[in-house]
Amino acid sequence: MKILLLGKNGQVGWELARALLLLGEVIALDRQQMDFVNLEALRLTIHAIHPDLIVNAAAYTAVDKAESEQENTFLCNATAVDAIAQEAKKIGALLIHYSTDYIFDGTKNASYLEDDAVNPLNVYGKSKLAGENAIIASGVDYLILRTTWVFAARGQNFLKSILRLAAERDTLNIVADQIGAPTWARVIAQTTAHIVQQVKQERENKLFVSGVFHLTSAGDTSWHGFAQKIVELASPHCQLKTHVISPIPTSQYPTPAKRPLNSRLCTDKLTQRFGIVMPTWETSLKLCMEELF
Ligand SMILES: NC(=O)c1ccc[n+]([C@@H]2O[C@H](COP(=O)([O-])OP(=O)(O)OC[C@H]3O[C@@H](n4cnc5c(N)ncnc54)[C@H](OP(=O)(O)O)[C@@H]3O)[C@@H](O)[C@H]2O)c1
Repeated sequence: MKILLLGKNGQVGWELARALLLLGEVIALDRQQMDFVNLEALRLTIHAIHPDLIVNAAAYTAVDKAESEQENTFLCNATAVDAIAQEAKKIGALLIHYSTDYIFDGTKNASYLEDDAVNPLNVYGKSKLAGENAIIASGVDYLILRTTWVFAARGQNFLKSILRLAAERDTLNIVADQIGAPTWARVIAQTTAHIVQQVKQERENKLFVSGVFHLTSAGDTSWHGFAQKIVELASPHCQLKTHVISPIPTSQYPTPAKRPLNSRLCTDKLTQRFGIVMPTWETSLKLCMEELF
């Protein structure tokens, strides 16, 4: 199997480059090698490589900056994704793509199901939804995997920010009314690899059905709960200044992009189709942080 991985230097892309290794020939490209702003090059590259599978881990992910960079955000997360889907369709490749809880408005009183009504609150969410819709409309064989609150030992994420801030400040004020599931990039990549193995068989047997799946850790917490756990796990290993982590409402931490209060995604569909049981966010966080200390 020839696999084209786009976005190899992102949190998820980095882990995918490793997790997909055993499954075939992986051609992994970063932004320098394949910038999504160059749509013609994107199309030509896909056509020239002619992969059996495209895994797209690249995206414009700067949620707040996206509010003032709408054009760029849509180019990367929607127009380029449309081009990828169209090329994949032409060559008969399967497309695996990642999306986000930010396509929902967070007003539901329970975990979101895959076919719940969407209503993104910010530009990033709108662009990711447009990307999903373009894939579905293209007629390509696809799997869209929606995830949440991604963390990893490398890259820019909440885990790294809290470790930095906790070394500098006595007190941290962290939002406590947004609920979600912190999800380790490695778990996303390993789940993807497991899925790839299974769908390879399904496609060979002409049994493959495209679909949208939620892929997040089990359990949930707030950003405040996440921060508390990070500091608790880091404390034995490093000098931290922080001794108080105060819960604050979203209203006390204004950001350019509005965020959903409920980011919980139900993963039952993933478990039913692929037999995957997601680990809790605490288990993943502990294992991830063991690599840092
Ligand atoms: N991070 C989260 O909390 C989160 C939550 C839900 C869903 N997701 C989704 O999960 C997927 C993976 O996210 P992630 O956390 O791994 O993101 P990430 O760490 O920000 O990585 C994104 C990658 O995309 C690349 N990229 C950005 N603009 C590009 C362009 N114009 N052309 C080509 N590549 C470009 C970046 O390149 P550079 O390295 O050069 O910047 C980076 O390597 C994305 O689809 C994202 O929307 C993420």
